[in-house]
Amino acid sequence: MYSRIAGVGRYLPERVLTNFDLEKMVDTSDEWIRTRTGIERRHIAADDETTSDLAYGAALKAIEDAGIDRSEIDFIVVGTTTPDVVFPNVGTIVQERLGLHGMAAFSVEAACSGFVYALSIADSFVRGGQARCALVIGAETLSRITDWTERETCVLFGDGAGAVILQPADEPGIISSHLGANGKYRDLLYFPSGASKLPEDPATRDYLSMRGNEVFKVAVKTLENMVDEVLAHNDLEQGAIDWLIPHQANIRIIQATAKRLKLPMERVILTVQDHGNTSAASVPMALDVAVKDGRIRRGDLLLLEAFGGGFTWGANLVRF
Ligand code: ACO
Repeated sequence: MYSRIAGVGRYLPERVLTNFDLEKMVDTSDEWIRTRTGIERRHIAADDETTSDLAYGAALKAIEDAGIDRSEIDFIVVGTTTPDVVFPNVGTIVQERLGLHGMAAFSVEAACSGFVYALSIADSFVRGGQARCALVIGAETLSRITDWTERETCVLFGDGAGAVILQPADEPGIISSHLGANGKYRDLLYFPSGASKLPEDPATRDYLSMRGNEVFKVAVKTLENMVDEVLAHNDLEQGAIDWLIPHQANIRIIQATAKRLKLPMERVILTVQDHGNTSAASVPMALDVAVKDGRIRRGDLLLLEAFGGGFTWGANLVRF
């Protein structure tokens, strides 16, 4: 048995923050942000909007797109690194909002690779016969852990959510998944506090920290190695992929991966200009954008890939 993507959806918060808005907040320019990252604008969650709100919005769209009744869902997994609270996990909050109960519902924390990890897990459950209708979500509110006075990071991130419905199929939909991690890079990209580690001074709030330039170099090298691995594992030539759906962190990282795959940029789905880096939400949102605008069609061969904090990385080769 295999699994296939039966439906896709995305949800973006209403508020849009442009590069020109950021020029008024920190010492930066639209020109610097566009040329160094490709980003022009990003969506930011309202003060009372949480990751689970975005995840729920994306789930509704994916359910509608798949044409299923929500009661068919028997497995929920959410890739997120910005959960509403440490627990209950975002999966259970979405489950309750959907009026469901009983099935497994949990979150996976792998930073920007969260959705690729979650899709791989759900695929294993469907292929193993333990799930027949999986809801897989990537959802983030990175704006909540961003230091809005630090220009090196605050221009990069945005909020959003994307979701897919995964169902059993006779032909491979998710053809292969490739996941990896290397904890030795923890100091290059991290959020310094968590449930078991309180800040020394409770009055101080923690923010995401990133040594972007060093992350950039490891990201490019790791993604090149990973796409080589996907091609070799599936006996594919460079250029065989119909569409690359990359994590949207930086246009220059995406261009390097496309070059390694010998894909022209016309066959790469880009949303970085409109969404910024939405971490685990970026891959499913980009997939949804290109499915809804008609570029991606049934039968196309897709490569989903991501790289993020941990470091973690992953890819899914998908026959849509
Ligand atoms: N506006 C203007 N100038 C800036 C800004 C800004 N917003 N930010 C940095 N600069 C300056 C720096 O101070 C530096 O100035 P200097 O040369 O006088 O010292 C100069 O611009 C160059 O800075 P770099 O950091 O070398 O710029 P770089 O070209 O590397 O771009 C960026 C930075 C966009 C962060 C890039 O390195 C990147 O995309 N890194 C990878 C990010 C990534 O993939 N993260 C993983 C996923 S995120 C997750 O998992 C949560």
